[in-house]
Amino acid sequence: MSTGEQSRPHVVLGVTGGIAAYKACELLRLLQKGGAEVQVIMTKNACEFVSPLTFETLSGFPAVTDTFNRPERWSVEHVAMAKWADLFVIAPATANILAKMAAGIADDMLSTTVLATSAPVLVAPAMNSGMYLNAATQANMSLLQSRGIHFVDPASGYLACGDTGVGKLAPVEEIAARCFELLNKRQDMAGLRVLVTAGPTREMLDPVRYITNRSSGKMGYALAAAAKARGAEVTLLTGPVSLSAPAGVHVVPFLTTADLLEAMLKYAGDCDVIIQAAAPADYRPEAVAQQKIKKKSGEPFVLTMVENPDVAATVGAMKKEGQTFVGFAAETENVLEHAAGKLKKKHLDLIVANDVTAPGAGFDVDTNIVTLIAGDHQQSLPLAAKREVADAILDEVLRIRG
Ligand code: CTP
Repeated sequence: MSTGEQSRPHVVLGVTGGIAAYKACELLRLLQKGGAEVQVIMTKNACEFVSPLTFETLSGFPAVTDTFNRPERWSVEHVAMAKWADLFVIAPATANILAKMAAGIADDMLSTTVLATSAPVLVAPAMNSGMYLNAATQANMSLLQSRGIHFVDPASGYLACGDTGVGKLAPVEEIAARCFELLNKRQDMAGLRVLVTAGPTREMLDPVRYITNRSSGKMGYALAAAAKARGAEVTLLTGPVSLSAPAGVHVVPFLTTADLLEAMLKYAGDCDVIIQAAAPADYRPEAVAQQKIKKKSGEPFVLTMVENPDVAATVGAMKKEGQTFVGFAAETENVLEHAAGKLKKKHLDLIVANDVTAPGAGFDVDTNIVTLIAGDHQQSLPLAAKREVADAILDEVLRIRG
């Protein structure tokens, strides 16, 4: 985290060993021109291409390198730099650093620091086309993207190795623009109280059995993390999921739809933005058996379910002036039509519609394909990491709030 000094965002610039390393000097300049303070970490190979002294002179900070090969330094310095960063940018990024990041390998100052940071990370790959298009590199990039790492794709053209193809570092102006886009996002929800619900419910049948659904909670957790990163004060109401909550978020667990409603009624009144990403059960068993229900061989098991409250509709009906209420519609057919109906019925300001049968969308995957519907405003987003979808939803929330 930065010192809180808003006017001078902190950028850690990671430079890896490629012919494009010299372009990182120009990137550093552009970042400084835009008002950022920049510290540089160079890999050992990067030092073969550009002298650390160049970065040191330009940045006004010592360039952190591994040239002395003293691993004990990492444990001290990497944490400090990881925390200092408001943004981490790696340009140029070799296939090697992408592979290390994907695998969580921390064997030098750069890989160690990027593993430790909670700042947004932007990567600008540059390498030979064959390496870039190799299935291993592509798989590493998809994995990193699904974890919320941002990319500036390389351009095509004449490469230093003599080939022509994709793999040229994107123009530094484009990389700098993406850096500022990410930095500007970071505090645009400061002062807002955001309530996010996530995950499935569990409706108990007896002490050992319950009825649940396929919600993993990933979309809700991504929203909580994104809102937190953008400066909001976040409360996360969570069903039983196997995810760890983002740091600094107030977590309140729930089990059943009734629990969720109770928690919503307790916390929603004080919030500016309420995002109902949880998947509450519409029905619950009429009675919860006190003892384990015994098998009766040869007889069908008949279960009577009774209707649960509609949490979103209840909260929507109580919505106060100035509150923005967001819901989800996970559909398998007539997606937009059903979603628009729920938007009205539940007094939502925005509904996030998705076809959960589409590949790459829906349950327990790291990506999603959604359409945002707010009144007459409709926006279809391409397949993207849930974290990116979360940021797009928050962008739309801020647009609605004006
Ligand atoms: N929702 C809710 N309480 C319920 C059911 C749903 O708050 N008992 C919320 C969901 O969290 C979501 C929105 O309402 O934000 C739409 O949920 P969805 O399951 O798609 O719709 P339902 O109203 O349950 O309608 P149906 O099951 O018929 O599609």
